[in-house]
Amino acid sequence: MNAPEPKGTEAVRLTVQAQARRYTIEIAPGAALRLGALLDEAQLPARRFVVSSPTVWRLHGETFGAISRDEPILIPDGERHKQLATVGRIYDALLRAGADRATGIVAVGGGVVGDIAGFAAATYLRGVPVAQVPTTLLAQVDSSVGGKVGVNHAMGKNLIGAFHPPAIVAVDPVLLATLPRREFRAGLYEVVKYGVIASRELFDLVADRLRAIFARESAVLLSIIAASCRIKAHVVEQDERESGPRRALNFGHTAGHALEAITKYRRFRHGEAVAYGMLVAADLAKARRVLTAADRDRLASLIMQMGPLPPVGDLSAADALDAVKRDKKVIAGRLHFVLPTSIGSTEVVTDVTEEELAAALAATGLRP
Ligand SMILES: NC(=O)c1ccc[n+]([C@@H]2O[C@H](COP(=O)([O-])OP(=O)(O)OC[C@H]3O[C@@H](n4cnc5c(N)ncnc54)[C@H](O)[C@@H]3O)[C@@H](O)[C@H]2O)c1
Ligand SMILES: [Zn+2]
Repeated sequence: MNAPEPKGTEAVRLTVQAQARRYTIEIAPGAALRLGALLDEAQLPARRFVVSSPTVWRLHGETFGAISRDEPILIPDGERHKQLATVGRIYDALLRAGADRATGIVAVGGGVVGDIAGFAAATYLRGVPVAQVPTTLLAQVDSSVGGKVGVNHAMGKNLIGAFHPPAIVAVDPVLLATLPRREFRAGLYEVVKYGVIASRELFDLVADRLRAIFARESAVLLSIIAASCRIKAHVVEQDERESGPRRALNFGHTAGHALEAITKYRRFRHGEAVAYGMLVAADLAKARRVLTAADRDRLASLIMQMGPLPPVGDLSAADALDAVKRDKKVIAGRLHFVLPTSIGSTEVVTDVTEEELAAALAATGLRP
């Protein structure tokens, strides 16, 4: 789980044993340049369709141009386009081009493109293989690994979906050079999350190398991405469909999702809301004395050092509580809440009271 920091030119190769198949996560500076060979090795069918977004294609299309003779299928990648209508556009393009079952989809983009293209691949002709080529930090450490694909519904996020493990995940940290700083930081909060749930070493690496990380130095990016993917892959292998261990990945996500929901998904990048959610969970754990004040402060100070977060002072803790109650982490009437017990370990509890949660939300800056 805790790899030593590799040199900038090295590659890290992980394998994930999903129920349906085994696949490789290749993490290497320059992986994008040898994508064709990686796709061949993963036996992705020879007729390949790239699905990407205009933004990503404008910045990086040249790098990927050679992997397909067919036109790329470009879809808008804002969260509000993550809906069935966009999946329909992918089906249309595939059908028009006469794509048969010997077709592979190559998703090149952030989590939105990966989730939409993955869902199109899961369902087109009852399923064709997909390769995930994530281009945001969030997608490189989280959404491209694990096989969850899907779209939103007017009634809520990610309500329509499937499990469709990729044929390969090809991660090139060099692609992150063009990522806006706020997007980069949003992904980095998920890296911090992995540190808190499973690796003190990863947490310390982020804290110690923050400047190099923000300078996007390739060696340190490789290290934190590889450590994060290793943790996600390990958890997903044990629990692909989220009945037990996968729940730890929801650390920070209970209050985080509530903050996103009560601001209609407009104020926060997902990772920013998770940053607040981690603080809420840490405060709650500290109040219960399952987390030391020192570890709570360590987490809070790292989050502070990472830069400004959107304000929460105008948001009401009561509204956030209502949103928590509507969350899908409430199972049979009980909220499953992930509490940190140290930097590097968590426990899932089901007896968090509204009063405790309200107090932790207020401690994190919401209006009581
Ligand atoms: N499937 C899963 O397990 C899983 C896990 C976590 C999140 N998700 C999903 O991921 C989505 C969020 O993904 P995201 O944070 O990557 O957002 P995103 O896909 O919306 O990308 C963010 C922005 O970055 C731009 N962009 C992408 N790559 C770039 C690059 N290299 N340079 C410059 N700009 C670039 C995009 O055009 C977009 O505007 C959500 O829909 C969430 O539900 C899925
Ligand atoms: Zn998340």
